[in-house]
Amino acid sequence: MDQAVRLRELAGRRRAGRGRVVVVASGKGGVGKTNIVVNLGLILVRQEQRVLIFDADLGLANVDILLGLVPRANLQEVINGRRALEEIVTQGPHGLLLVPGASGLQELADLDPLARNRLLDELAALAAGVDLTLVDCGAGISRTVLSFAAAAGEGVVVATPEPTSITDAYGLIKALQRLQISVSLLVNRATSPAEGRETAARIQGACHRFLQLEVPLLGVIPEDHRVGQAVRCQQPFSELYPRCPAARALAEAAVRLLGQEGGELPPGRGQGFWQRLGRLLGR
Ligand SMILES: Nc1ncnc2c1ncn2[C@@H]1O[C@H](COP(=O)(O)OP(=O)(O)OP(=O)(O)O)[C@@H](O)[C@H]1O
Ligand SMILES: [Mg+2]
Repeated sequence: MDQAVRLRELAGRRRAGRGRVVVVASGKGGVGKTNIVVNLGLILVRQEQRVLIFDADLGLANVDILLGLVPRANLQEVINGRRALEEIVTQGPHGLLLVPGASGLQELADLDPLARNRLLDELAALAAGVDLTLVDCGAGISRTVLSFAAAAGEGVVVATPEPTSITDAYGLIKALQRLQISVSLLVNRATSPAEGRETAARIQGACHRFLQLEVPLLGVIPEDHRVGQAVRCQQPFSELYPRCPAARALAEAAVRLLGQEGGELPPGRGQGFWQRLGRLLGR
């Protein structure tokens, strides 16, 4: 059966989603965002959550590569008007949904308003049908990243123990604070629990001292050679090595992420997100 038809059927069977949108970002590049988004998504779909990953890293989109998927088309063709968004939605393991990004695509903020708004409307409909949309962003503080975060209202900042990553994470949190969104921290690649705690404490301490901001810690993911091994096999580490230390730590972080939000949300919140994003980008 045609994939688009299957997806429509699937979406039809689903009750109206809660439409929570969480943006995963980092100050410094290469800290593990894409691996975290993919594996967090998989851990959550295994817990019966309906999860959509939106690959918004328009410079180096590669969520599909990590999942070993070969999407037949990507965001570029939607933006060009050659395909509908639902035609490019790809299904990963356990029903994880993916909107493949487009490598080399310019910033969403630079797109012409017509193409951008059509895309955002279609994304709104999609996000409204799932429990959680995870947005994998490009590194750094770009207009697209800030717009996504402001529209979502929730961001996870990923940092590693490297000093440059720590200072860049602080810079990003500072930029996000101005948008009045809730930010939590995820430390990745800690070589020991002590190093993880110390990294978190340095970032949280600076935020407390200079921004009067308390940043909750979502978790500490250890440095784990299984992550690199899985990447080389083009398979998510939580699938290939579900009991490896990184997968276990990320599962704990997933529980904390779900726990951050109490109670049912008003329906159609996802819809609101994409509309807000359109307005923010169009400014
Ligand atoms: N916990 C970990 N333990 C060991 N290696 C890791 C871990 N997390 C990430 N890596 C390594 O870091 C590399 C970069 O990860 P990833 O592509 O997810 O980062 P990114 O933040 O998305 O990068 P970019 O900013 O370029 O999008 C991976 O290929 C993997 O080898
Ligand atoms: Mg990435």
